Amino acid sequence: MTKFPKDFFWGGATAANQFEGGWNEGGKGPSVADFLTAGSREQVRKYKNPIDPNQIYPSHKASDFYHRYKEDIKLMAELGLKMFRMSISWARIFPNGDDEHPNQAGLDFYREVFQELKKYNIEPLVTLSHYELPFNLAEKYDGWSNRKVIDFYVHYSETVIKEYQGLVKYWLTFNEINSITLPTGGYFNGGIMSIVDGKGFGPEEYPEETSIEVSKRFTALHHQFLASAKTVKMAHELNSNLQIGCMIAGLTSYPLTPNPDDMLLFQKHLNTQLFFCADVQNNGEYPYYMKRYFKENDITITKEIDDEKVLKEGCVDFVTFSYYSTGCLTTQNDVEKTSGNLVFGAKNPYLETSDWGWQIDPKGIRFFLNEFYRRYRKPIMITENGLGAVDTLEEDGKIHDPYRIEYMKQHIEQMAEAIEDGVELIGYTPWGIIDLTSMSTGEMHKRYGVVYVDAYDDGSGSFDRYKKDSFEWYKDVITHDGNTTFL
Ligand code: BG6
Repeated sequence: MTKFPKDFFWGGATAANQFEGGWNEGGKGPSVADFLTAGSREQVRKYKNPIDPNQIYPSHKASDFYHRYKEDIKLMAELGLKMFRMSISWARIFPNGDDEHPNQAGLDFYREVFQELKKYNIEPLVTLSHYELPFNLAEKYDGWSNRKVIDFYVHYSETVIKEYQGLVKYWLTFNEINSITLPTGGYFNGGIMSIVDGKGFGPEEYPEETSIEVSKRFTALHHQFLASAKTVKMAHELNSNLQIGCMIAGLTSYPLTPNPDDMLLFQKHLNTQLFFCADVQNNGEYPYYMKRYFKENDITITKEIDDEKVLKEGCVDFVTFSYYSTGCLTTQNDVEKTSGNLVFGAKNPYLETSDWGWQIDPKGIRFFLNEFYRRYRKPIMITENGLGAVDTLEEDGKIHDPYRIEYMKQHIEQMAEAIEDGVELIGYTPWGIIDLTSMSTGEMHKRYGVVYVDAYDDGSGSFDRYKKDSFEWYKDVITHDGNTTFL
């Protein structure tokens, strides 16, 4: 029996800084992502300015979508995609972020991309800010910690939402907005140079933040909430059909044991890390539990008198989150650790891990879909999911990736269960549908796609595209509306 609705958005996801390339072409200004060097599991990515010719900067060429978008969109159409999640690079539209007038070549580029998608009836889902802001805003204003950046963002969001009316209906204001509640989010999400200058990505780079630093991150987040709410209101006034969503990093964990201390830790984590931002963006106000969290962590943020009203008037229309893995939480110290998307946790003895140490937990997607849905009762999309793995391009041009098929199959089955549970799940856009560079490590060989890109960690390669076995498999899933008996 098919559990997925006929109009389900079977999709794929990317982000400009990891996929687009053309970092200094077509009048684009540099973004914070353009100064991040390549790293690995062992070596953290670093912020390096000025550009060092002896370093690799993965965003500069990325997967070269900038020059290959027609070929890529044709492949997406062949795959049968109904939705393509991508981001606009803010610095391609406003090279310095604080410019008055947009860069026409940037506007033209995305118009061509959206027209190409329309040609194949692929619905775009566009993230306005996916881990990059124009570098000038970071350098000159200390990024999102400065309230002025709200106006620059709204000027940008209004420009593109108006410009692409009729071409783009679904928008996300910030990718994984809750990432800035973690120290590492201060750079790629917040552009807060006063905290991150000279530092990199690993948690060990931020041993102990001062209360001023933590407060800056949460102030930056407050500004993003306001920018998001103003954008939602503006978009709805422009056209009531436009749908604006939030995007939350699935920092999903379980308690390691039934010890009440672990349960309380779990609850605190759910509230303050997973749901806090979604609570604000859906309910238009700060949740009760953050008062204590702010007090205990010595966090002070400056709010203005109208802020409450602004938040209330800009609640999102739908909810999305990324889901890759789960970890465990415990008050015990001597436990085995595991890594995951943006976070580290205690190892779950019931789960296997990916080559990058992320625990694979298909049933968790059902659990957290239910948790999100019962909290907000709005349509939901999974806007990122997938297995980062090493793939091998065979001499005959084939790539056999049964591990990826298995991962996707198990997650799709659990999404079907969630729909059966009553969750209004309307879309699924697995991450890096065409291979792209990794965010956490900057590696190319951590691949998620069903399409292989012939590119390597050192920036070499033909950049030609090859269909993996998972391409044909996902195509069949889409053709059969995700019918689970077929799976
Ligand atoms: C999400 C980000 O956190 O995880 C993406 O939104 C990122 O930008 C994805 O690429 C997967 O993480 P990684 O580190 O494997 O690229």
